[in-house]
Amino acid sequence: MTQHRSRIAGIGTYLPTRIMTNADMSALVDTSDEWIRERTGIAQRHIAADDEYTSDLAVEASRAALAHAGLGTENIDLIIVATATPDLTFPATATIVQHKLGIHHGAAFDVHAVCSGFLYALAVADNFIKAGQATNALVIGAETFSRILDWTDRTTCVLFGDGAGAMVLSAGGEGEGLIKTHLRSDGQFCDLLYVDGGPSRTKTVGHLRMQGNQVFRHAVGKIAGSMEELAGMAGVPISDIDWFVPHQANQRILEGVAKKLAIPVEKVISTVGRHGNTSAASIPLAFDAAVQDGRIKRGDLVLMEALGGGFTWGAALARY
Ligand SMILES: CC(C)(COP(=O)(O)OP(=O)(O)OC[C@H]1O[C@@H](n2cnc3c(N)ncnc32)[C@H](O)[C@@H]1OP(=O)(O)O)[C@@H](O)C(=O)NCCC(=O)NCCS
Repeated sequence: MTQHRSRIAGIGTYLPTRIMTNADMSALVDTSDEWIRERTGIAQRHIAADDEYTSDLAVEASRAALAHAGLGTENIDLIIVATATPDLTFPATATIVQHKLGIHHGAAFDVHAVCSGFLYALAVADNFIKAGQATNALVIGAETFSRILDWTDRTTCVLFGDGAGAMVLSAGGEGEGLIKTHLRSDGQFCDLLYVDGGPSRTKTVGHLRMQGNQVFRHAVGKIAGSMEELAGMAGVPISDIDWFVPHQANQRILEGVAKKLAIPVEKVISTVGRHGNTSAASIPLAFDAAVQDGRIKRGDLVLMEALGGGFTWGAALARY
């Protein structure tokens, strides 16, 4: 079987226009700009309009990624949407995105690993490409977490935001592309971060529930561990990394991981202040921000990581 490396041919993002600041938050719940910034680094988040669905965010991000890659929809033969906030229980949001993009060939499905979803989707698409089963994949992280927040719970509602990011992953990379992905999960932690509704158990959508300090306690060690394992498997020392693009959950987690692995703060891409935690969308949103402002350049070595509900966690190493 021919082995291909998957190249990041393009990246694009979309954020809803409505911005909600910490001051707006303090009008809803007993919180303050100072508390939110100090504990999380978050200053604002974007919130989707009522008639703007996860698939709409995903479509906008996909169009931008396709334009960046210089490819048309006819070139795409795989669409994977990582989301925990699908438009509907079924069909997969990826098929709705496929329809809205006017694509009638190839395959489309969702991947559900919450905040690690983008890394899971990236790994799946990479393996499809390496196996010769796809040539150009749209890998999308898209979320409307505002729809599943309990807006009376100050311990969770201040943390999350809406948004989408997409990468076009293409066959034929030589020195460039995804070098390795490393995925982990351990369901014994499923009660620490979850949604208290679903079609089978409650017949409702439910709201996000989290034991924040418990999640925090696990996050740094698990994330740093998977990055070290990945770097070891790839034979690339962490000190060789040009850019660290973490899942944007909390500035303190980002910095904790960087410190544990002796990654200088100048190499850490952080957008959590502007976007909040956008779950599966956060890595491509941060990656794209750094491509747009000229920090991440072609040929740079980029290390991504995430941890989310489940727990699921993992890391991915790419030469952009
Ligand atoms: C959520 C998080 C910011 C809370 O910070 P913390 O230092 O752990 O705070 P605690 O939960 O221990 O709460 C401390 C106090 O702040 C209060 N508090 C919680 N949210 C608050 C808010 N938005 N505004 C003001 N006070 C708040 C609590 O009620 C508690 O008050 P008490 O001491 O009177 O009981 C932090 O735990 C965290 O970031 N966890 C990881 C969450 C995460 O990233 N999840 C997603 C992973 S994908």
